[in-house]
Amino acid sequence: MEFSIKQSSPEKQHSGCVVVGVYEDGKLSPEAQALDKAAAHQLSDLVARGDLDGKTGSTLLLHHANGSAAERVLLVGLGKAAEFGAKQYLDALGAVFNALKKTAVKDAALFLTDLAVKERDENWKIKQAVLAAAESGYRCDQLKSKPAAAPTLRKILLGCADKPKAAAQQALEQAAATAHGMKLAKDLGNLPGNVCTPTYLADQAETLAKKYKLKATVLEEKDMQKLGMHSLLSVTRGSHQPAKLITLEYHGGDKKHKPVVLVGKGITFDSGGISLKPGAEMDEMKYDMCGAASVLGTMQAIAEMKLKLNVVAVIPSCENMPGGSASKPGDIVTSMSGKTIEILNTDAEGRLILCDALTYAGKFEPDTVVDIATLTGACVIALGHVATGLFSNQDKLAGELLAAGEQAHDRAWQLPLWEDYQPLLDSNFADMQNIGGRAGGTITAACFLSRFAKDYRWAHLDIAGTAWKSGKEKGATGRPVPLLTQYLINLANSK
Ligand code: BES
Ligand code: MN
Ligand code: ZN
Repeated sequence: MEFSIKQSSPEKQHSGCVVVGVYEDGKLSPEAQALDKAAAHQLSDLVARGDLDGKTGSTLLLHHANGSAAERVLLVGLGKAAEFGAKQYLDALGAVFNALKKTAVKDAALFLTDLAVKERDENWKIKQAVLAAAESGYRCDQLKSKPAAAPTLRKILLGCADKPKAAAQQALEQAAATAHGMKLAKDLGNLPGNVCTPTYLADQAETLAKKYKLKATVLEEKDMQKLGMHSLLSVTRGSHQPAKLITLEYHGGDKKHKPVVLVGKGITFDSGGISLKPGAEMDEMKYDMCGAASVLGTMQAIAEMKLKLNVVAVIPSCENMPGGSASKPGDIVTSMSGKTIEILNTDAEGRLILCDALTYAGKFEPDTVVDIATLTGACVIALGHVATGLFSNQDKLAGELLAAGEQAHDRAWQLPLWEDYQPLLDSNFADMQNIGGRAGGTITAACFLSRFAKDYRWAHLDIAGTAWKSGKEKGATGRPVPLLTQYLINLANSK
């Protein structure tokens, strides 16, 4: 999809479809008024007749509206003018792209980014319009024998009253790069476990490295043995697929600047291992590499944006399978850090691969480390599918990530990492056990990771509830690529 932003008037716009907003009280937005004037009140007559109630997300499509240079005009309801905020704006965008999808329109001109949205600036409105367009155009038919016809909508113009500022153009480009990163994350997430293996993820990293001149390194099991990553290796024991430790380095900043390291959980299928999961919806455990996918998507996005900073991706990847040589409950392993771990539940495998990856991340002398993982079912219970769980050993970093999430509308919510939870991980036989019981399961998982992240500023994002959708709309969401990308944009701007 192509995006552009241009100063223009809705009535003069030659396009497959011009989109303008109408409020619930029948009041036309300024852009709709301009069209209405050119159309000798055709629009206000329609609204007065009651054909469009103006409720948020209602739509009315007109063909060859009077006075309009476009083939179609789409009116979209915005709800009450006084209540028009972020949610209403996003709902209206969703409705617009849904309505456009049902037509054969090839290019559309949206006159929505000049609308006043409570507490949001122009750049935010531009970004969200681009992300909504990309979201509506996404389909996953990589593995269908006959792919459905490609979506017809290819070009989106954002029309505005004034000449767009340089910042608006930049917001548009950054949003497009973010959307491309989300597409990569969704594509990888949606691939099944028999295709998207650790080897496949390593190949993807190498492909990105070639395309964007990054440095990819893939460590094999024998390398991990030498490094003493016995916690990571304990998870892959039941699998026939070789485990990989993938790193991808982006050097966009000053050589002197320490990098941000993004660590993504890359379990390409989580059966639970010997602590086997129940059968219902087990297929969804192909999504257990969405942390890794979001890290690759973010690397692509920042490389496309040419951000001026240094970022390293570290992706521990393997399958968690049962088998004759699989780890058993009660087994004790020594992690790369030297700390010993009693594996009481082989289904708490994410933390077992992440702890060694966090130790390995120290090798890059990081400024900050952020890990991203579909870590706990408990996080889905706590926060549902709206917010990502956030933990950090530094409140300033937590604040920056929360703010980036708000800015990108890819929100997170901070949970406590208090010392009081740590004793739940005490083991009679090893330095710690890998589970802390049912109570506070998301927190004890984060507490486990925190023990391996003491040497640097660190945050953990539990994306178990936000990385994919279940049910009829089953599919990866591409989250938290927008949050991570925004965080890195803000960081680059502050340097
Ligand atoms: N990948 C799962 C977490 C998960 C579960 C994500 C459901 C999304 C939906 C993780 O490896 C896991 O199995 N966690 C266990 C931990 C428990 C054994 C302490 C869980 O959440 O049940
Ligand atoms: Mn598991
Ligand atoms: Zn898992």
